[in-house]
Amino acid sequence: MRVVVVGTGHVGLLTAATLSAIGHDVVGMDEDEEKIEGLTKGISPFFEPGLSELIDKGTTAGTLRFDVAPEAVGGAEVLFICVGTPARVSGEANLVAIERSARAIARHLSGPIVVVEKSTVPAGTAQRLWRVLTLERPDLADEIEVVSNPEFLREGQAVEDSFRPGRILVGARSERGFDGMRRLYGPLIESGARLIETDIATAELAKHASNAFLAMKISYANALARLCERANADVTAVADVMGSDPRIGRAFLDAGLGWGGYCFPKDLQAFERLAARLGYDFPLLREVERINDEAIVAAVEKVKDALWNLEDKRIALLGLSFKPGTDDVRLSPALALARKLIDEGAEVVGYDPEAGANAKSDLPELVVAPGVYDALEGAHCIVVCTEWDEFRSLDLDRAKELLAHPIIVDGRNLFEPAEVRGRGFVYYGTGRASDPGMH
Ligand code: UGA
Repeated sequence: MRVVVVGTGHVGLLTAATLSAIGHDVVGMDEDEEKIEGLTKGISPFFEPGLSELIDKGTTAGTLRFDVAPEAVGGAEVLFICVGTPARVSGEANLVAIERSARAIARHLSGPIVVVEKSTVPAGTAQRLWRVLTLERPDLADEIEVVSNPEFLREGQAVEDSFRPGRILVGARSERGFDGMRRLYGPLIESGARLIETDIATAELAKHASNAFLAMKISYANALARLCERANADVTAVADVMGSDPRIGRAFLDAGLGWGGYCFPKDLQAFERLAARLGYDFPLLREVERINDEAIVAAVEKVKDALWNLEDKRIALLGLSFKPGTDDVRLSPALALARKLIDEGAEVVGYDPEAGANAKSDLPELVVAPGVYDALEGAHCIVVCTEWDEFRSLDLDRAKELLAHPIIVDGRNLFEPAEVRGRGFVYYGTGRASDPGMH
């Protein structure tokens, strides 16, 4: 099928590259000329394992190309809208980019088309989108079908998720919409992907509900962590016990510095605002957010417990991205922690296998080290912020020699407490009994 994807951010680019790989003729469109120029040369604007290769494959085969001109939508059978829906100050999703791109492309549409709302949006947006498109193009009112097809990709595993999706969710109001999407995703469905078909509002709401629920699981684990620290219990073991019950499941029960990234924070707020707009107060969502903020405060308290005053102290942060496998630092808990430590007067040096440059441009006061051992030199304390595999194999003896004080605050429970303590470190875990030597 001839497909156009508007917006080449994480979601759009993955969508475009995957659809071209499964046999469609795809154009990725973006108003950012520099980005399009880079993509045309095969340069991905962000790091995502396997994505560059996928783009390369598509552009070489001629099934994937990139364009800035809205005229490129002419002749499209399926048009994806994958533009950003950032949070407004109020927390509400800002849908201006969706409306703008709909208006920009409307006059170039020709013939029957399925317009797919892929960006995460509040329930009711598809209806608005249809209205904008058909107001601009009343002649195509019977030809434009708007469907909701939320994505569930995880950054860092997005290529794998694209080819083996847990489910493909499609919300539509007519057989024509469902049929278009069945044909589009045919190869993935044939290879076992589960297709779930619902009405449009259900699909839109299910996406927000899923992200908010996952964030709630993590916050639950983080609240348990605070409790375990006070009770000398181990939150990881508690999560293992809970997770062994299939009704609960072990995933997303890892306590730590909390959730960040471009999706959970904005989606949780947008979901809460949507509920309020619909007349339903949903304080549980605010509590999920409060517990998440508390996780950073708890880590700062541990650093202060270990170092007393933070002025004249150098603190090494291991990991700056919001999670491993990505260079994305948007709303990264690591940077939130760095800001608090800098505000308290500490010198903060960070290292990340991929996200150093992005972290530096987000937080210029942060010193970014070129290698993990460079970050440790002269530091009074290590804080593990992101559980990159590289840190699991850290040479602890070498680290100890480089550090001013052998102290680890483990914000992701990456290390075995007995092992690091055995090598002479003072160890603060998350939701684990505190170091007996310290109190
Ligand atoms: C999330 C969802 O998992 C995807 O299904 C969804 O498609 C995506 O948002 C989106 O809406 O676009 P992502 O933001 O890539 O994906 O990241 P996750 O893997 O969900 O992690 C989110 C945050 O939670 C990270 O900061 C991670 O470190 C943290 N986390 C995760 C924990 O603190 N504990 C856990 O047990 C799991």
